[in-house]
Amino acid sequence: MSQSGEKPVDTAGTIETLMREERVYAPSPEFAAQANISDRGVYERAERDPEGYWREQAKLLDWFKAPTQVLDWKPPFAKWYQDGVLNASYNCLDRHLATQGAKPALVWEGEPGDVRTFSYAELHREVNRAAQMLKNLGVGKGDRVAIYMPMIPEAVISMLACSRLGAPHTVVFGGFSPEALRDRIVDAQAKVVITADGGHRRGGVIPLKANTDAALDVPDLPVEKVLVVRRVENDITMQEGRDVWWHDALAQVPEDATVEPEPVDAEHPLYILYTSGTTGKPKGVLHTTGGYMVGLTLTTKWVFDLKDDDVYWCTADVGWVTGHSYVVYGPLSCGATCVIFEGSPDYPDKDRWWKLIEKHKVTILYTAPTAIRACMRWGAEYPNRCDLSSLRLLGTVGEPINPEAWIWYNVNIGKERCPIVDTWWQTETGAIMISPLPGMTPTKPGSATRPLPGIVARVVDDAGNPVAPGSAGGLLVIEKPWPSMLRTIWGDDARYVNQYWSKFGDAHNVYFTGDGAREDEDGYFWLMGRVDDVLNVAGHRLGTMEIESALVSHPSVAEAAVVGVTHEIKGQGVVAFVTPRGGVDAGPELAEELRQHVAEKIGAIARPDRVYFTSELPKTRSAKIMRRLLRDIAEGRVLGDTTTLADPSVMAAIKKQYEDSE
Ligand code: WTA
Repeated sequence: MSQSGEKPVDTAGTIETLMREERVYAPSPEFAAQANISDRGVYERAERDPEGYWREQAKLLDWFKAPTQVLDWKPPFAKWYQDGVLNASYNCLDRHLATQGAKPALVWEGEPGDVRTFSYAELHREVNRAAQMLKNLGVGKGDRVAIYMPMIPEAVISMLACSRLGAPHTVVFGGFSPEALRDRIVDAQAKVVITADGGHRRGGVIPLKANTDAALDVPDLPVEKVLVVRRVENDITMQEGRDVWWHDALAQVPEDATVEPEPVDAEHPLYILYTSGTTGKPKGVLHTTGGYMVGLTLTTKWVFDLKDDDVYWCTADVGWVTGHSYVVYGPLSCGATCVIFEGSPDYPDKDRWWKLIEKHKVTILYTAPTAIRACMRWGAEYPNRCDLSSLRLLGTVGEPINPEAWIWYNVNIGKERCPIVDTWWQTETGAIMISPLPGMTPTKPGSATRPLPGIVARVVDDAGNPVAPGSAGGLLVIEKPWPSMLRTIWGDDARYVNQYWSKFGDAHNVYFTGDGAREDEDGYFWLMGRVDDVLNVAGHRLGTMEIESALVSHPSVAEAAVVGVTHEIKGQGVVAFVTPRGGVDAGPELAEELRQHVAEKIGAIARPDRVYFTSELPKTRSAKIMRRLLRDIAEGRVLGDTTTLADPSVMAAIKKQYEDSE
């Protein structure tokens, strides 16, 4: 591994730091020699003949009927591999049985330390039985199933059982509130909910079943059955006629039950996953089967350099897209051995992850910068206690990684032996879009490097004109459709068109990511965070509007504005400015109550770090809240331009409030 340049690293992950970072790490000759992809010509070939390139990649899957068509593009609506017929669970399971039936597919460890391993043959059997169980509950092709689970094997089994039946799943992160769960159930019109009595979390229990009961405690919901896995053995109530224990329903299914994988068209919906946008209501991102599976299989193989004997661990929860793409569909389609962990990195102690790597001999680790920064703060003594020599490749995702955290990861976890892949992508893109290919791309700490072959990303100005490499930043866009792209927002084509494809005119042929970026002279991309009203808190997407709606639903609140501020560990923290209703006693108690209220409405991840009260919010003359100014205050900066404010005295009052509270 070579290193050039000796620039000191700033501690803060600021854009300025990113832009000054000049070190370059070339792949080691040993790694390059064995890499799955080391042919540099692939970028050029994909650019010259995108159709031919994507046609070739479709061969990574097993199709019941191979596609003859590649892309049907009526901007912004794409159909990929339209006449192909396949099944996702077949690709993740059945096709591996002949050669890898005995190989571990899942190695799962629970928070209390319980371990369960499933070979491909065993996972295949469990998924078949679960599919039969869902069929018995009335689930068929096209029906939606909500999955609200802890990180236990049954979460993965449920997802694959749904895809086996051609029933789109919608997984809802276990940290979301009953209300958030209900909104998603209603929007997706889910017929069945799969949940658990609870999940373990830092020695406590997440009451998933009680939350589900609360979510369903309104009339006219589409849910007919609730399937409940016993995990923590807490006290729960089962509703007669609606709730069914997983183990009871499974007992009705023969051990050797087989459910033929439903042959579905390439464009059949595989899942809906809700994600925060710039309005109050989360969007149901729709992924379909063929293109998504091609994108996932390809990127898992190339970006993670996945080999038959790898033990691969992606730390994401299946409630997020990273869990869908790189815990379940990508690695299983590649026939990998996947580690899944229920718990937290610091419970019972801060060496938990490193012990897990030592114990299960993990070779590939994929995690988020926020976790790396937390580990960095706890200190290298924790990883140093464990044998991490099995590791051979490291990945990060979810937010920009500051060079200091990158270096720490490289030195203390990778021991300067492992390439690091900083992967940029989104719920909407389905698969990794910008990332090094570890056998051939020299890396620069803090840069996700180059778009993958076949992906045409560019940095443009507000009018959509390209910004020259090496100059200041702009907006990140993608100029050509790609197989794993979202197809629409579930039930809302207009929102799909407006949100993603209408930023630069009516041709609808440029995808706007919502991210700012800069391209350097070498064609490397440096991601600079969201440019819209979406926050990235500890790698999780949250809309400012969602949190604001939660705040104003409290009887003491008249108006609220939420901004993201730089946070040392989480990347961004949440700060709320609240105008209380007349006569309300706005003090620390109310602030605490409001923080709790947001956690109850959305989930603990959305709880504001700080709440400030103000008699008025700064607004333009057209009554738009000026969040930019609030951000300046919350970050203790000199106030930006206030000339467009309707009432400039408002800022002075808020600023004083902020200063008094410091
Ligand atoms: C951010 C997670 C910088 C970005 C897969 C994007 C990143 C949002 C990176 C999507 C990265 C993700 N470097 N920023 N490597 N990866 N992001 O939908 O702002 O939860 O728009 O998907 O995370 O978040 P989402």
